[in-house]
Amino acid sequence: MAKKIGVIVGSLRKGSFSRLVAKTCAEVAPSSLQFEFIDIGKVSLYNQDDDTDSPPASWKELRDAIRPCDGVLFATPEYNRGVPGVLKNAIDVASRPYGKSAWDGKPCAIVSVSPGAMGAFGANHHLRQSLVFLNMPAMSQPEAYVGNAAKMFDDSGKMTNDSTREFLTKFMAAFATWVERHTN
Ligand SMILES: Cc1cc2nc3c(=O)[nH]c(=O)nc-3n(C[C@H](O)[C@H](O)[C@H](O)COP(=O)(O)O)c2cc1C
Repeated sequence: MAKKIGVIVGSLRKGSFSRLVAKTCAEVAPSSLQFEFIDIGKVSLYNQDDDTDSPPASWKELRDAIRPCDGVLFATPEYNRGVPGVLKNAIDVASRPYGKSAWDGKPCAIVSVSPGAMGAFGANHHLRQSLVFLNMPAMSQPEAYVGNAAKMFDDSGKMTNDSTREFLTKFMAAFATWVERHTN
């Protein structure tokens, strides 16, 4: 049976390159993976005071969306050399209540994306720091830093850069193997 992969995009921007890269990843992935894009834009800000038996509805929705996933694909831009606040918020919300993290044990992969040359290296590794604590086996190789992202798509959002498409195809094939290895 196909493995269900939750896709978390760290940008809310309508024309987000990170989202376009995530869509390309889903497109080129082996059929053993199925994708569900999980919207994190309406998740209210984490406040430990609200983490009671009746948390905000948006927190419950996020946690319930992540729990049934076999794995997670993170596609993120870099804000000031780290992950955007909206992504960190989603990570924190779904990590609680303590001992009931929705992320626990889920294999994951990261693709970081930037119009700049460095491919959001800083955000990619900033995110990895949280993933260690969350007990999410994060695929090490291949690493995916997509730079110059503004030049890679046509007006319809289709990836036009063949070498990047080819790279993402290999990346997703490796991720399918990674998910298989870390799930029953
Ligand atoms: C607050 C802010 C901080 C940014 N910091 C960085 C940065 O540290 N490194 C970088 O490569 N791009 C940085 N950028 C530019 C983003 O990479 C660019 O806006 C990108 O298109 C955002 O990703 P998206 O297309 O998925 O929305 C920053 C943008 C904003 C709005």
